[in-house]
Amino acid sequence: MSKVDVNVGRRRFLVAATSVVGAAGAVGAAVPFVGSWFPSAKAKAAGAPVKVNIAKVEPGQQMVAEWRGQPVFIVRRTEEILANLKKIDDRLADPDSKQSDQPTYVNPELRSIKPEILLLIGICTHLGCSPTFRPEVAPADLGKDWVGGYFCPCHGSHYDLAGRVYKAQPAPLNLPVPPYYYESDNVIVVGLDGETA
Ligand code: FES
Repeated sequence: MSKVDVNVGRRRFLVAATSVVGAAGAVGAAVPFVGSWFPSAKAKAAGAPVKVNIAKVEPGQQMVAEWRGQPVFIVRRTEEILANLKKIDDRLADPDSKQSDQPTYVNPELRSIKPEILLLIGICTHLGCSPTFRPEVAPADLGKDWVGGYFCPCHGSHYDLAGRVYKAQPAPLNLPVPPYYYESDNVIVVGLDGETA
């Protein structure tokens, strides 16, 4: 074999080896990329919308559903609750929910599609505890001005029965409202926008 033949053969080998490494590198990079674009069935289920039947929620009561691993508070508000919401705007940090997280199709003050049915993500906007439902008017521990709302046990943030936070609280924002729509009078789909459903 001549010297020239050896060199040509070696060059072919190097070219072939480089191609294989390049291909292996491309495959290695592609696996996590594909994985991030196609979530597992479990991940899809965790983020999927949930249907909630609210037929058994009495006026003044709350039920708690779960969506994406978070509590969703659903309250059937009474006429008295709705009337009280209008009286406390000057005590709230963001009464019209201009800074807060909610779909555009909910009323910004009542924070709901139908006035009587409230949906909130039950996670405090301070550090993520779940606030306690306190619908009573003027209970001893919350004071004579309390018209019903939520109290966060972790650092004492107060919210009203539209999830609007009071002024000068540790929590900076109102409780978020999830996307939702009514499939029927008593069935709500949580996790999908009504506008796009
Ligand atoms: S987590 Fe709710 S007040 Fe801090």
